[in-house]
Amino acid sequence: MDALADSPAPEPANPPAASVPAPPRFVSEYPSYQVSRRGFLSWLAVGWGAFAASGAAAGGAFNRFLMPNLPLYNPPMVLKVGWPDAFEKDKVDERQKPNGFWLRRGFDKATGRTGIYALSTTCTHLGCTPNYLSAEQKFKCPCHGSGFYETGINFEGPAPRPLERYRITLADDGQVMVDKGRKFQQEKGEWMDSEAFLAI
Ligand code: FES
Repeated sequence: MDALADSPAPEPANPPAASVPAPPRFVSEYPSYQVSRRGFLSWLAVGWGAFAASGAAAGGAFNRFLMPNLPLYNPPMVLKVGWPDAFEKDKVDERQKPNGFWLRRGFDKATGRTGIYALSTTCTHLGCTPNYLSAEQKFKCPCHGSGFYETGINFEGPAPRPLERYRITLADDGQVMVDKGRKFQQEKGEWMDSEAFLAI
């Protein structure tokens, strides 16, 4: 009896198992997968946004290439420039230079007539705008040095032909009227046309 009372209590065959959660069966059940998938979706959204923005920018650049910024103001093609007396004799009048032509009243050595003609301000070399040098009585192009007499005839530099003249007539109210839609070229004999010169 005593021997039984002193013997230690028998150990349990298996200690009670701690409660361990079952491992995920699928990769999608791992918490790290959940986080990375959300991250992936947000990065995907950012990527698409950047792609759309760059596409819009490229589209804008392409449109500007097709339709470059042109001045919104186009000078009128037909202008009344004043009464004949408003032009000083034997002088080049520069008031219409911003509209693309000079006016000169007096004797025209190129045609042998007296009156007014309208001379284009576009150099016949590559299209620059010459300057009028009153002391030298000539037009001088700043781009490559072409020179033109007051008649418009070229005499120096690379310009291959004279400046062009514009149609010039009297309007119904008696003012001088210039039409830039009609040009006259000396080398074609057009300066002798009645509308290339206003005889007064
Ligand atoms: Fe006038 Fe060349 S554009 S000289």
